[in-house]
Amino acid sequence: MVSNFAKLLAAAALPLAAASRYTNFTTSAMIPWAGADSSGVDWQSPVHLSFRINSPSGRRFTPLADTGSQGIVLPAKYVGYDFNRGCEEQGGRHGDEYLSSSRVYYEGCWVERALFFNVDERNHSLHPVVETHATLLAMVNSSRCLDYDATRTPPCLDKRDMCINSTGVAMLGIGFGRESSAASQATPDKNPLRNVAAINSQPVSNTSFSAGYVLDSRGVALGLTDANTAGAAFYALQPVAYPGVADWMGARACIVINDTAPACGNALLDTGLNQSYVSLPIGTLPNPIPKLPNGSRVQIAFGEPGLPPVAVEEFVVGTPSVPNVNPWHVSVALRTPTFVNTGRFFYRGFSVVFDDLNGYFGLKKVESDGVGENEGQRLVVQDDL
Ligand SMILES: *[C@@H]1O[C@H](CO)[C@@H](O)[C@H](O)[C@H]1NC(C)=O
Ligand SMILES: *[C@@H]1O[C@H](CO)[C@@H](O)[C@H](O)[C@H]1NC(C)=O
Ligand SMILES: *[C@@H]1O[C@H](CO)[C@@H](O)[C@H](O)[C@H]1NC(C)=O
Ligand SMILES: *[C@@H]1O[C@H](CO)[C@@H](O)[C@H](O)[C@H]1NC(C)=O
Ligand SMILES: *[C@@H]1O[C@H](CO)[C@@H](O)[C@H](O)[C@H]1NC(C)=O
Ligand SMILES: *[C@@H]1O[C@H](CO)[C@@H](O)[C@H](O)[C@H]1NC(C)=O
Ligand SMILES: *[C@@H]1O[C@H](CO)[C@@H](O)[C@H](O)[C@H]1NC(C)=O
Ligand SMILES: *[C@@H]1O[C@H](CO)[C@@H](O)[C@H](O)[C@H]1NC(C)=O
Repeated sequence: MVSNFAKLLAAAALPLAAASRYTNFTTSAMIPWAGADSSGVDWQSPVHLSFRINSPSGRRFTPLADTGSQGIVLPAKYVGYDFNRGCEEQGGRHGDEYLSSSRVYYEGCWVERALFFNVDERNHSLHPVVETHATLLAMVNSSRCLDYDATRTPPCLDKRDMCINSTGVAMLGIGFGRESSAASQATPDKNPLRNVAAINSQPVSNTSFSAGYVLDSRGVALGLTDANTAGAAFYALQPVAYPGVADWMGARACIVINDTAPACGNALLDTGLNQSYVSLPIGTLPNPIPKLPNGSRVQIAFGEPGLPPVAVEEFVVGTPSVPNVNPWHVSVALRTPTFVNTGRFFYRGFSVVFDDLNGYFGLKKVESDGVGENEGQRLVVQDDL
């Protein structure tokens, strides 16, 4: 164990040194979660972000801010879509978004729009107005799709309960690496937090603004600086395997349940859920487990395979940790690829840095006063798991 500690400490110097990447970058802006006070949210409920569309006085939306998806869906009639002209005629491209879990299917037109965050914040020196651009889905029709395949044209062959010109929808996907066969259109141009145009009316420059964000209980800080990344430990993200798409895959992590062999794959720190989903290779456990029983020890080590992890989330099902990162439930499926969706209570224990420009992922333990502070920090080395 002593030698493992020594190995860990020697290696720890490596990721921490990365902080100097941001010394020349000073531009950043914090967008607080809607309704959060200065002490931030406790993650019990989903988080929301407020923005206005097309101009600072445009229509306001406050959708759930979901790191489990990438892309915006808003009703076409509220985003300046002209129903009397075709989609292509207004510079758009016909498109759709399919939510596989609920089978909800939205169709409309991908159009580029400006989004303005922080307009309604009271203190603009604390929370400057941020203008971002994104290609969003101006949603015209919604339905339930019972036969969807993204590789087909059209992808949906069985639409039910079609609703034309539907309005009651606003979605804001702020994740990365969410391209998949079911969401091939979920590319970085769809994420407003990855396409910042101006802060406080000043166009951002790539010499002072380092693209990426820090997500914590207060909100999302856009633009990485030494100050807002201080204390985070970093490791590299891998590019997605999608041809023609410049995006980063989800952060790598290794999962252990009780005494299973560590299984490594991608992690999703999904703000949209309060439960956890794990996929482990067949044979890791005798059977899939819809809900892990109380007493099960779960350990998720974040880092590059073969190197000591930069952070470890640990909890025992049924025994709340401090801070309480325990998901509502943990479901385990046996299939590849290995994957873990931690759910949003993860953010009670860690703030998360996404370095979009350089392709790094950073984690920093949340300060909690006293009890339990070091509980989740047990030092673990990869080859020990
Ligand atoms: C910051 O800028 C200075 C002056 O241009 C340069 O010498 C230095 O290498 C830069 N630092 C980093 C980490 O890029
Ligand atoms: C919406 O549905 C109508 C009726 O099926 C169809 O004519 C129209 O093309 C659809 N619009 C879009 C943008 O998919
Ligand atoms: C606004 O925020 C700035 C920076 O934190 C602070 O100095 C100032 O006192 C605040 N103004 C008000 C009216 O709260
Ligand atoms: C959809 O809305 C547009 C614009 O208001 C209108 O012209 C069109 O008739 C509507 N279509 C349906 C099917 O309600
Ligand atoms: C920064 O922007 C300039 C001007 O648009 C561009 O030429 C340059 O390649 C950019 N540098 C980086 C590192 O993206
Ligand atoms: C893990 O071990 C605990 C304590 O022995 C036990 O209660 C629990 O059922 C085990 N979980 C699994 C998934 O085997
Ligand atoms: C598991 O633990 C939780 C929290 O302590 C408790 O509410 C629940 O009843 C326990 N479940 C079982 C099956 O013992
Ligand atoms: C998780 O969310 C569901 C609703 O989506 C709620 O019923 C449940 O109580 C939540 N669990 C916890 C532990 O907060």
